[in-house]
Amino acid sequence: MPGTFITVEGIDGCGKSTQLSILARKLREQGIDVVETVEPGGTLAGREIRAILLDPRQHALNARTELLLYFASRAQNCAEVIAPALARGATVLCDRFTDSTIVYQGAGRGVDEATIRQLHQIACGSLYPDLTLLIDIDLETSLARALARNAENATRETRLEEESHAFFERVRDGYQRLARAEPERVQVIDGRASIEVVAERIWSVVTHR
Ligand code: ADP
Ligand code: TYD
Repeated sequence: MPGTFITVEGIDGCGKSTQLSILARKLREQGIDVVETVEPGGTLAGREIRAILLDPRQHALNARTELLLYFASRAQNCAEVIAPALARGATVLCDRFTDSTIVYQGAGRGVDEATIRQLHQIACGSLYPDLTLLIDIDLETSLARALARNAENATRETRLEEESHAFFERVRDGYQRLARAEPERVQVIDGRASIEVVAERIWSVVTHR
């Protein structure tokens, strides 16, 4: 694929979406064709799947159902948005991707990683990010930000945020393991600074590439 595929990862409230829009703006200022997308979501079908996944009334959602829904959203996003954009040479910025499934459903819920990788192959084929920006921040700050933002937006997307502290500890450890396993692709960005400072850290990693 002639384009560049960049994903942004990290625990809820770490600042992913804020940083993704800043990065998109800076890249566009350089004349780069940028496509922004998000998981779960990114397409009409994806947004409907997202509504089920994040609805707090869905507390009975089975771990396998949840896993398949994340990949259903991702399959549509790959086919409809990501692959066509990469094929025309665009830079795709995706807020979360399969790494989120590896850490939330894998490390968090105990689904084995081989199953997740198999599903990735089925849903996305060989589509993998060229670069992943992992925004690292302590759990307390991150979850407090996510809760404050959700209260402000009066969102109903709170199912995951009702998970236990231990769940998010496993998720954060899972991200750190991923970064150790693939240090070239997964670049860890210290997220404990102002929005502007974190954006500069990201910009220096991206321009270095
Ligand atoms: P995510 O997409 O990772 O869940 P957001 O970008 O939505 O995170 O940020 C969560 C909340 O924290 C938002 O209200 C945002 O304005 C705020 N925020 C983001 N980055 C920072 C930062 N570096 N310092 C303080 N607040 C931040
Ligand atoms: P997101 O909208 O990025 O939440 P936030 O802005 O709070 O970080 O993602 C929604 C939730 O879905 C988030 O709690 C992480 C979870 N998630 C998974 O559990 N598995 C996945 O594969 C993906 C993409 C997200």
